[in-house]
Amino acid sequence: MASRSPYPHYDVIVIGAGAAGLMCALTAGGRGRRVLVLDHANKVGKKILMSGGGRCNFTNIHCGPEHFLSANPHFVKSALSRYTPWHFIALVEQHGIPYHEKKLGQLFCDRSSKDIVGMLLAECRAVGVAIRTRSPVSDLRLGAPHWLSTPQGPVTCSSLVIATGGYSIPKMGATGFGFDLARSLGIPVRPTRAALVPVTLEGRKRRQLQDLAGVALDSVTRAGGAAFRENILFTHRGLSGPAILQASSYWQPGEPLEIDLFPDTDLAGHLEAMRRERPRLTLKKLLGEQLTRRVAQRWCELWLPDRRLEQLTGEDIRRIQQACQPWTVWPDGTEGYRTAEVTLGGVDTHALSSKTMACRDHPGLYFIGEVVDVTGHLGGHNFQWAWASGHAAGQHV
Ligand code: FDA
Repeated sequence: MASRSPYPHYDVIVIGAGAAGLMCALTAGGRGRRVLVLDHANKVGKKILMSGGGRCNFTNIHCGPEHFLSANPHFVKSALSRYTPWHFIALVEQHGIPYHEKKLGQLFCDRSSKDIVGMLLAECRAVGVAIRTRSPVSDLRLGAPHWLSTPQGPVTCSSLVIATGGYSIPKMGATGFGFDLARSLGIPVRPTRAALVPVTLEGRKRRQLQDLAGVALDSVTRAGGAAFRENILFTHRGLSGPAILQASSYWQPGEPLEIDLFPDTDLAGHLEAMRRERPRLTLKKLLGEQLTRRVAQRWCELWLPDRRLEQLTGEDIRRIQQACQPWTVWPDGTEGYRTAEVTLGGVDTHALSSKTMACRDHPGLYFIGEVVDVTGHLGGHNFQWAWASGHAAGQHV
């Protein structure tokens, strides 16, 4: 089959030189496969480079199926169990890359995300993987072999791996290539939307809170049945911070976010106790101990009576608790793909094998990484899915 192709032939062509695509390529190359990686961008791994504030939160030692959203929550189990965070950590250590745990099992490079891209490229080089940047695929026909049109001319392959990621950060080269291809082949694509994304407030709601931009507060933030104990951050457009980003993946337009601003405290009980112990204290002062002076002041201006604690009635205490525990916020939207870390939804997992990521109805076609309907929580889980799904396909192609 391969020898009959009049064009340069590869065992494997991977479209997308991001986290999943490079992992797939180096795994397949390590098995002796002839591999070509094509990317339309001017350099590889752009999202890895910008991730984790430039230090790449490359995995999470607590990564498990419970940290993923997908229409089929079982789908991730096979790949995640066969390529664990410890496999990736071993690779990182083998390359002498210094790293540290920041919090909650999140591992970051000490120096720079460049170390991770450098490592993946070195691994690809060592097993003879060819990588071409600035190489958009302008036409593609599935068959035996698959045929692709590239700026350097047509190429063919036995296995074609789609690793083009999602829509987030179009400025970095994100496209809907994988979703469009799937649809054109009749492969179902679950509805997509921006996730791990700040939420926006409009009009009066925005104006009321805008000048608190930059203030971070501890919280338990809830949306769509999920709860996250992390910070929220006020922004000029609305709310961000890890708790909001996490909750955004569960939030639906028209629904509220419930933000408990006193996560370890029964606020009503605390107020009653303080009313006895520190009756001359003002409410603003007391709330400020947890909420910062600026937020406490704004809450008192907007919603709460700034009286001495001894003057608070039971009804006052009930209102104060309602305004803080939880503080119920009705976002008007999100910042969208412009700033989202990931795309929720994607290629329906029912169309794929969870063991190999191969398409059930199209022999020799694979989808890996973010293009698949698998979305991780914040904290290194999305890269772990990219490594694990890339590895699963790389072992089979
Ligand atoms: P990825 O997007 O990495 O790669 C897709 C590749 O395909 C790109 O190189 C792109 O140029 C190429 N491509 C797209 N369309 C193409 C086309 N038509 N033709 C050819 N090539 C095409 N996750 C995490 O676990 N820890 C973290 O610290 C962060 N931090 C972070 C910060 C920011 C700002 C963002 C936007 C995202 C993160 N993430 C993250 C998420 C993480 O970056 C993401 O989940 C993975 O990069 C997904 O890997 P993929 O390989 O699937 O796609």
